[in-house]
Amino acid sequence: MPANRQIALLDHYRQSARDLPWRYPPGHDGPRDPYRVWLSEIMLQQTSVATVTTRFARFLERWPTVEALAAAPLDDLLAEWAGLGYYARARNLHACAQAVVAMGGFPDSEAALRQLPGIGDYSAAAIAAIAFGRPATVIDTNVERVIARLHALDRPVRSDRKRIRALADDLYSGAPAGEMAQALMDLGATICRPANPACHLCPLSTDCAAYASGDPASFPPRPPK
Ligand code: ADE
Repeated sequence: MPANRQIALLDHYRQSARDLPWRYPPGHDGPRDPYRVWLSEIMLQQTSVATVTTRFARFLERWPTVEALAAAPLDDLLAEWAGLGYYARARNLHACAQAVVAMGGFPDSEAALRQLPGIGDYSAAAIAAIAFGRPATVIDTNVERVIARLHALDRPVRSDRKRIRALADDLYSGAPAGEMAQALMDLGATICRPANPACHLCPLSTDCAAYASGDPASFPPRPPK
């Protein structure tokens, strides 16, 4: 079954991927710049896609390489970060750039990426998958919601992380992880939305237990207050 889900999801993504400034188009076969992927994933940690879209190109123009960013005065970086929020992220960005330059470039494994300042489980998996084509299971809140609905999980996400992780590993298994991750993020952002999911547009609806229940938006249940 996962193979059918993967095919449905990836086909849909290849036809309808959002055109985002940091994104390589589906099927992109050339080199990928890990600096660009890292920068976008850190920016997107706590800032909306809409805001990052307006700021990404300018940042990249100002510091086109990790070496340029590592050499920049921290104050310049903090000033450029204005409005993106959570300044600790900007400080970590600078520390990470310096560590990467000292190492001679970005490491290409999830485990090594996770050792770097500001890179947690989510970002390590996303960078390994998107920049390096590694088989990592990328889980963000969109992916959690999609999985909770596919399986009509009856517990709030925060009390069901182990089961979600196992189901996500299964969903990603054997598929190109970078495209799967971005397909799931797009699905969660545009179709499998928290409220009013657009199930009539969803490539997975015929295989979705929450859809079959007739009330997909009630999954995952909200945690009790
Ligand atoms: N949110 C975090 N990373 C993203 C990505 N690569 N594409 C779209 N939304 C995202």
